[in-house]
Amino acid sequence: MRLTMPTAACTHEFGKRLAALLRAGDLVILTGPLGAGKTALTQGIGDGLEVAGRITSPTFVIARGHRAGPAGLPLLHVDAYRLEGLDELDDLDLDTDAADSVTVVEWGAGLAERLAESHLEVAIERHGDESREIALHPRGGDWAERVDTLAEPVGAAA
Ligand SMILES: Nc1ncnc2c1ncn2[C@@H]1O[C@H](COP(=O)(O)OP(=O)(O)OP(=O)(O)O)[C@@H](O)[C@H]1O
Ligand SMILES: [Mg+2]
Repeated sequence: MRLTMPTAACTHEFGKRLAALLRAGDLVILTGPLGAGKTALTQGIGDGLEVAGRITSPTFVIARGHRAGPAGLPLLHVDAYRLEGLDELDDLDLDTDAADSVTVVEWGAGLAERLAESHLEVAIERHGDESREIALHPRGGDWAERVDTLAEPVGAAA
C-alpha cells in the first residue's frame, strides 16, 4: 500500500493513526534516506501512544525508551544508523523490553528483523521538498490485515 504525505503534518497524523493499531511486542522498521521523515513519523507514533518524553534523533543516542502513556504501551525508539552490525544490536539488549513495548527502528532494514517474528516495514521516499510517499510492507503476522485499515489516505477530501 502506498500513501502520499504532502506535508510533515500529514506524516505526523499518519503516525498517530498507525499508533492506534499497535500492540505490545510490535516491531516497525522505517527505511528511507536522510531527512525522509523517519523521526517525524516516529514522533507521530509517540504522539498517538501519548508516551512520555520528546522523541528526537540526537547524535549519540542509539536507543531511547519512552514510558507508556494512557495507551499503556512504552515506545522503544532505535536509530540504527551508527550500528555496525548484529553484535552491536544485540549488545543493546532490546529483546528484554521489546516484548512489552512497541519498537520502532530507523535504519534497521537488514538488521532489526530478528527482533520479532513479524514486522511492519515503512518505506519513506522523498519527492521534492515536502512531498513524501510512504509504502507499507507487511512482513508476516497479521500486519497485512492491520495495514488494510489504514487505506484511507491522510487528508483525503471527505
Ligand atoms: N511530508 C513530510 N513528511 C515528513 N517530514 C517532512 C515532510 N515534509 C517536510 N518534512 C521535514 O523533513 C524533515 C524530516 O526529518 P527527519 O529527522 O524526520 O528525517 P529522518 O528520516 O529521521 O532522517 P535521519 O535519517 O537523519 O534520521 C523534518 O524536518 C520534517 O519537518
Ligand atoms: Mg531520524
